[in-house]
Amino acid sequence: MKILVTGGLGFIGSHTCVELISNQHQVVIVDNLVNSKPEVLDRIEKITGVRPVFFPVDVTEALALESVFAAHPHFDGVIHFAGLKAVGESVEKPIAYYYNNLVSTMVLAEACLSHHVNRFIFSSSATVYGDQPSPYREDMDLKTTSNPYGETKAVSERILSDVAKANPDFSATLLRYFNPVGAHPSGLLGEDPNGIPNNLMPFVSKVARRELPKLKIFGNDYPTPDGTGVRDYIHVVDLAKGHVKAVEKRTSGVSIYNLGTGKGISVMEIVKAYASVNDIDIPYEIAPRRSGDLASYYADATKAKDELGWEAELTLADMVRDAYHFETVSGK
Ligand code: UD1
Repeated sequence: MKILVTGGLGFIGSHTCVELISNQHQVVIVDNLVNSKPEVLDRIEKITGVRPVFFPVDVTEALALESVFAAHPHFDGVIHFAGLKAVGESVEKPIAYYYNNLVSTMVLAEACLSHHVNRFIFSSSATVYGDQPSPYREDMDLKTTSNPYGETKAVSERILSDVAKANPDFSATLLRYFNPVGAHPSGLLGEDPNGIPNNLMPFVSKVARRELPKLKIFGNDYPTPDGTGVRDYIHVVDLAKGHVKAVEKRTSGVSIYNLGTGKGISVMEIVKAYASVNDIDIPYEIAPRRSGDLASYYADATKAKDELGWEAELTLADMVRDAYHFETVSGK
């Protein structure tokens, strides 16, 4: 298949391009480089032996996007990763988040309709479930999201569902990610956020490299087995493979899948695994809870297994080993 991947140079997008190419698909990447680097293209080529076609285009710009569809008139599907993703920043800059994440979804969906590209895979998030007991199932009602970033995911899901309702040939697959971590085992692709990381695993990696002095564990008084927050961490390579299965499946209307492992892991377990697998000390201190954090959530991952034939295979040890390997060999 010939697939347009927006945000294809980002963390999840780049890993997905590798898995698509490894499964004999042809990839065209669109990325505005706002939070990614052009060298990622070289690294995808180094891993796969194939250099994808790349357009430095912002998906919110309809005319620029049109030129991509004009140059490649026969996409079999699109995977839409392009978007802003920092929760804290979204609270400070709500207009940037709503504008970028919602306009891009609409502009891309419109381009798909006018070019008869009927398969749209969307990068959503478990944050759309809001605060309710786990495991999260795809048929649960969604609760209010706690920040503009989360809201852009919930609203994009609704936009695409309405587009699918109005256009019977158009199918939308909404993939709700849990917490993607790890890196490509080659050490060439990984998560490389600008500035001080907000998310747990990149922060732990900076502490491991001694670029930051110690991790703050946000709360050890949650109602969880060891008192620290519990999430469903999933290796980014497993997540990328889920996208290949999703784009290959013939569907109609709207399909929703959780992409998680189905297993909760605590912050303390992450820290201990990172330290022991990589044989390195991770200094930490217990800090107050971070506002807006939930105690615990994880996926019910059975629907993706039953319908896509996909399930996460990599372990916590793989996640922390590959995250550290990326830090030490990537030369970034
Ligand atoms: C957040 C978003 C999620 C998004 C994900 C990846 C919400 C509610 N959650 O998830 O939508 O997909 O980021 O961008 O919008 N922690 C520490 N110390 C740190 C950092 C984190 O203890 O320095 C803890 C947190 O309290 C939490 C866990 O680690 O228990 C994971 O945090 P993080 O990696 O930031 O992801 P989420 O908040 O789960």
